[in-house]
This record gives sequence, C-alpha cells and structure tokens, in this order.
Amino acid sequence: MDQINYEEIKTLDNGSKLVGDLEFPKRKVWVKTYGCQMNYHDTERILSHLEPLNFSLTQEKEEADLLLFNTCAIRDLANQKFYSHLGESKHQKNNEQKREVKIGAGGCIAQTESKELLKKYPQLDFAFGTDVVDNIGEMVYRAYAGDRKFAVTSWDRSDNYSIETKVTHGSPQAFVNIIKGCDKFCSYCIVPFTRGREKSRSIAEIVNDVARLVTYQGIQEVTLLGQNVNSFGKKNGESLAELIMELEKIDGLEMIRYTTSHPYDISDELIEVHGKSKKLANHLHLPVQSGSNSVLQRMLRQYSIEHYLERLQKLRESNPDIVLSTDIIAGFPNETEEEHRATLDLLDKAQFDFIYSYNYSSRKGTKSARMKDVLTKDIRGRRLREIQAHQLKIQEGVRSEMVGKTYRVLVEGFGNMKGIKKWKGRTSCFRIVHFEPEELEQDYMWHWVDLEITSATALSCQGKIIRDYGKKITPLQ
Ligand code: 5AD
Ligand code: SF4
Repeated sequence: MDQINYEEIKTLDNGSKLVGDLEFPKRKVWVKTYGCQMNYHDTERILSHLEPLNFSLTQEKEEADLLLFNTCAIRDLANQKFYSHLGESKHQKNNEQKREVKIGAGGCIAQTESKELLKKYPQLDFAFGTDVVDNIGEMVYRAYAGDRKFAVTSWDRSDNYSIETKVTHGSPQAFVNIIKGCDKFCSYCIVPFTRGREKSRSIAEIVNDVARLVTYQGIQEVTLLGQNVNSFGKKNGESLAELIMELEKIDGLEMIRYTTSHPYDISDELIEVHGKSKKLANHLHLPVQSGSNSVLQRMLRQYSIEHYLERLQKLRESNPDIVLSTDIIAGFPNETEEEHRATLDLLDKAQFDFIYSYNYSSRKGTKSARMKDVLTKDIRGRRLREIQAHQLKIQEGVRSEMVGKTYRVLVEGFGNMKGIKKWKGRTSCFRIVHFEPEELEQDYMWHWVDLEITSATALSCQGKIIRDYGKKITPLQ
C-alpha cells in the first residue's frame, strides 16, 4: 500500500478496523523515545497515525503488540542505551503467550544506520528515518502484511514543509514544529546528517495551526521547535521575530517559548521582541558550547565569545526579567587547560540560570571525529565535573534572588516529597517551583497560580500560594 486513506478506514462489527484489505484488531503499541523534544514531538505524530489503525498506547512493554524505538544519536551514550534496549526486546518476540510482536526503530540512529541495525538485530522488523514519521501507518501496514526487514529512510525533497500539529495528550501545552533540519554543520554534531537540510513552514500555516490548537484543543502554551529556530523563514523571507508577533495576537494563547537557538542568528529584531512581546517567555536557552574563541573556531560555531556576551547584554537590556541558560561541551578534541578555564570564566560572566553540560563524544561522519585528539576520558570527566561544580555555585546565587518575589506559574503536576504531596509549576522564566496545597485534597492540575518564593537553592525552589486563578484562561500580567 503506497498511502493509507485514513478516511476510508472502516470499523467492523468485531471492533477491528479494515485498512485496505487488512483487518487490524485492537492492538497495543509501546514506544521508547530517546533524546530531544523534537523526538518526543515525532513520537506524538507517530501515535496520532497509529490510533486510526486500532492501536492504543501502553506503558507495559510485556503486553504490547508493537514495540517502537524513537532513537537519538547526539552522543555515544544515547546510542549505547538504545542498542541495549533493542537487544533486550528479543524476549518480547519470543513471549510465553506466543503473541505476535512487531518491532520497529526510527529516529536519528535509524536514519544513518538502518541497514546495520536490521542485519545485527534479527528481532527488528523495520527501520525508519526522521523525515518519514508521517508514513508510519504505511510501514506498520507493510509489517502486518508480512513484510520484514525493510528500511524507509528517504528525504522529503520538496521545497515546502507543511504539516498539521498533532496533540494526543490532554495538557494545555503543545510543541509546534516550525523548522526542521540544520545547515550549520558544527564540527562535532551529527544532527545535519540525521535531520537533513533546513526547511521552514510558513508563518501563515503556523498561525492557523496554533489558532486551531487554542480554539479546539485548549492549548495555552506553545513551544516552537526546531534544531535552529533562529534560521526560521530565512529561505522564504520570513523570520522568527515576525512569527512570534503574529502568534501573540491569538486570543487565549498565554505563553510562547522556542528552542533551540544558535547565537550567530539571534537578530536585533528578535532581541527587541523579547522586550515588547507580552506572551514570549522570560527565558532563552542559547547554547554557547565553549567559553574559548579558539575552541569555538574548531567547532565551526561562527561567533566569538565577545559576540555572544554582547547578545546576552542586549537581551537583558531588552527584557530585564529574562533568564538565560546554555549548553556546554567539556573536552572538545585537544582543548587545553587554558581553553577549559575560559569556559569557567564565561560561566562567571554570563550568570546562567542553568546549563546542560556534556562530555565531548566523537560522532562518526562529523569533522571533529577526524581530528587527532590528545585528551583522555579522565581529563574530559574532570573538566566536566569542574564545569558543573562551578555552575552550581553561580546558580545558587542567581536563584537566591528569586526569594520574596511572586511568579505566575502553570501547574504541571505533583510529586511526593518526604511524605508530603507537593504540586509543581513552571514560571515564565522556566524554573520549576514546588508548593504545598492550601487544603490537602485541593487539585491544582493545569491551574494558573501566583506563588511567592519562600526558598531557593541551586537545584530546587519552594513557594507558597498567593492566588489561584483556576483552570480557565486568565490574561498574564
Ligand atoms: N558531543 C557532546 N555533546 C554534543 N552535543 C551535540 N553534539 C555533541 C557531541 N558530539 C550537545 C551540544 C548541543 C546539545 C543538544 O548536545 O551541547 O547543544
Ligand atoms: Fe548541531 Fe550546530 Fe546544528 Fe545545533 S546548530 S544542531 S549543534 S550542527
């Protein structure tokens, strides 16, 4: 079957769905997603295509008829985790109930290694790449029609990128893909190889999409997604700044976030939007990767630390409430002690609210994988620990400034802390705040509330409830 016509799917008296000439009884799908938000978003798309084929999601691997892995290739650790989980999945194939189980692997590893995976793991039925997630229905059809060991990893060669956002959960938060791929080719990064060239959706399409989500699916907060969202619209004369100002006009939309950014492409226009937009979050994640200009050059990052710091300063002038975070890679090939110390120095200057930091991991096919490298695993590990310890001290100071201030948060869930049920919400500036209910049984899920911060350490933040606006949409201040 080339393409499933979802409108022609019939439900039979026995509860099965008739897809073309194949009957699909009620089945369960289990999905393991690795890596970034883009992958989680793709998983949501995958599930939305499987529901019409009579699949419902299960968290129990043991009862699943279809196992899917949505993989990440960014660092070796992510690969190793997936290989080990895929290896274990062979027990599911030979289950005691003799249930027929199909297994598929998609995402970034599958994009570049599909043939090797299919050869090495006999239990794997099919593999699929990052640009074909919307064809998952056809692949699952093929698998149930008896086809095995096939790979679909083609790229969409058309110039436009047009999709409709799928939301399968009941929360008021949605991820909205606005650009896919990356043209930057930083020397360490596998993404341009696993996600292909940059392609943006149009502003008109995204605005319609988000307005629909707000009106019909109760969405109040959107996170605009892309590997490099700052390149959004470049190829068709549009920009992220323009998009945000258009989305801002949608009644009922409360909060706009975007991720991930590249410092080279942060325009003055966008910085201005951080000051004037009422709905854009008070947070920006701006990966710097290293505090040393010579390392940045070897990484092919296209900016200097001076440029980076100038952008931070402008952002803070434009929006004094903005909170900044970053990504750091420790131990890039041949990084000297001096270059490493430049990163510690940058942390002092930038005063980030949090950082994601990683040991450098060599990725096959990238430029840096071909560099001769004198660093050992121990040196890398030690530098990463130094970076993290240094940041924790800074973070403590940055966060202590929150105490006594009041923040509006959207409550996202609760947890048990030393036997006490505590709710948690996220501020516009992306910090999680925990708070105790005023009355034990009070349900705050998806309420907007005002919290006064009572204590804040580097890693956790407590508040007390000042005002509960309830679930309904309330204009932000
Ligand atoms: N090794 C370590 N970290 C990497 N990242 C990307 N590629 C690598 C690599 N080869 C990190 C960068 C990026 C984040 C998503 O992952 O910091 O911003
Ligand atoms: Fe990778 Fe650089 Fe593109 Fe980010 S901008 S996805 S680090 S190549």
